[in-house]
Amino acid sequence: MTLKDQIDRNNLPSHVAVIMDGNGRWARQKGKHRIFGHKSGVTSVREVTEAAAELGLRYLTLYAFSTENWNRPKEEIEALMSLLVTSLSGETKTLMENNIRLMAIGDLQNLPGKVYKKLQASIDKTADNTGTRLVLAISYSSRWEIADAAKKIAAAAVKGDIKVDDINTEMLSEYLNSGKIPDPDFLIRTSGEYRVSNFLLWQIAYSELYFTDTLWPDFRKDDFFKAILDYQHRERRFGKISEQLGSEK
Ligand code: IPE
Ligand code: IPE
Ligand code: MG
Repeated sequence: MTLKDQIDRNNLPSHVAVIMDGNGRWARQKGKHRIFGHKSGVTSVREVTEAAAELGLRYLTLYAFSTENWNRPKEEIEALMSLLVTSLSGETKTLMENNIRLMAIGDLQNLPGKVYKKLQASIDKTADNTGTRLVLAISYSSRWEIADAAKKIAAAAVKGDIKVDDINTEMLSEYLNSGKIPDPDFLIRTSGEYRVSNFLLWQIAYSELYFTDTLWPDFRKDDFFKAILDYQHRERRFGKISEQLGSEK
């Protein structure tokens, strides 16, 4: 039986988020430039996106570029930005074929104009697709997102649109850039690093975490299916005890 066949379709995570890490090390191991690793990582993005669509997952969020990644060498940033443009041009067809709707979170105003335009064009083109939503986190960091939400909530309070007493966890979730996107059920990080690097800190409060040594450019559909199978062996208690869960299922 294939790994995919072993997956219980009645116990799928509705939102999977992925920290795609290890491109540079993968390239270095091959004696190549880091940028070769980024280019090779595009295949993994396609594989995971297709795998998510095949399973019918509602949301797949991919961490593509962090706020802190702006501090990388200029040439690497430029290479990553042009890779974004070429991938968006090339892969929008794959999104259409798989009925995938593209979305983005992050400080998009910070992106070079050309990248922003391409991104917006793909978002618009796929807007009516009803399958998996692919959310790209670009120029994203969780602390930026939370500070941005705080600013918007304060402005709304000053304007009198909301009362300070009405501010609660639900409202904060809604004011985040991830807005109506449900919290991830499952977070995958590749490359053997055990950290979350400023990704969805608020939203992963009760996410199941999965770490693998596989470097991102080596990550394939079966690696994704293996991770989902691992998820299906977890018991999510949300603070309760095991005995309380059965009746709610
Ligand atoms: C992930 O790979 C891609 C981005 C962060 C843009 P890295 O570029 O971080 O690769 P490593 O972690 O240095 O190997
Ligand atoms: C996290 O990877 C960001 C992305 C995958 C886009 P990094 O490589 O930037 O994270 P750190 O610096 O190792 O924590
Ligand atoms: Mg890294």
